[in-house]
Amino acid sequence: MANPPPPHSGPPSAPAPAAKDEKIPTEEQLVLDLCNSELREETLYLLSKNREKFQQDIAPLLWHSFGTMAALLQEIVAIYPSLSPATLSQAQSNRVCNALALLQCVASHPDTRMPFITAEIPVYLYPFLNTTYRTRQYEYLRLTSLGVIGALVKVDDHEVIAYLLSTEIIPLCLRTMDLGSEISKTVATFIVQKIILDDAGLKYICATRERFFALANVLAQMLEGLVEQPSPRLLKHIIRCYLRLTDNPSACHALRTHLPTVLRDGTFNDFLEKDLTTRLWLHQMLHNIAMANSGGGAPHTGLNRIMGM
Ligand code: TRP
Repeated sequence: MANPPPPHSGPPSAPAPAAKDEKIPTEEQLVLDLCNSELREETLYLLSKNREKFQQDIAPLLWHSFGTMAALLQEIVAIYPSLSPATLSQAQSNRVCNALALLQCVASHPDTRMPFITAEIPVYLYPFLNTTYRTRQYEYLRLTSLGVIGALVKVDDHEVIAYLLSTEIIPLCLRTMDLGSEISKTVATFIVQKIILDDAGLKYICATRERFFALANVLAQMLEGLVEQPSPRLLKHIIRCYLRLTDNPSACHALRTHLPTVLRDGTFNDFLEKDLTTRLWLHQMLHNIAMANSGGGAPHTGLNRIMGM
């Protein structure tokens, strides 16, 4: 490999203007500054922007330092009044999103993840997922909040899933899958995928026909949207969700008649040309449904539960 270029390649005599962020205070100093209301906005920005660059993981520092989590929660609840009626400015949205990015560090770190859940911090974000406005500042808020939940489900942990199910995150994800931007739809669908890949999650969503159809309908509706506006990543998560649903006999049976035709008629073939994994998932899903269709099918009791028959 070639050597990397020297860090400063300009003429040695010309002093470069000091870059604004060349002298960032230490992470310890910044975390302390969060408790100073005058410094807080700038500090949230600096910590969030540099969160990957610090010498040490900032998650334990954020979690264990005095007053820090309280300060971050304060940032969050401070904008609740701007959710209804909708008066959130872009600056307010940026500020709270920086606070949310720090919460995402805490949610991602193995040592702080469970304390974060035990303290019920995630539910403070739920009002942001419950909004229906499509303007940029609310969309950014939704996406960043989903990022925190996404960080929690990234590692497969039954305890995390059980917690999220108990807080009724699923209807909130469905809402974003219904009306979010493409990127927040993708994150919300990823979260639902991770939840139903857990056995308790699959059982939860298949427990009543209302729940099953709430998910199936929003998946079908997103597929419709993809015909006009392709998104390979979103399609991948949608197909993985359908495949997982076929692991439940009653859901599999219900999908015989409720699978969108676009998944059967090759609408997405071009799209999936380069994605062998998703193609295999789709194939496996269609196979599972076909098997439920032929032969004995799902046990009658399973059918009863989902189809309400
Ligand atoms: N309390 C509702 C239920 O348990 C929550 C809910 C609403 C829900 N819509 C949903 C759960 C859709 C799963 C899917 O059913």
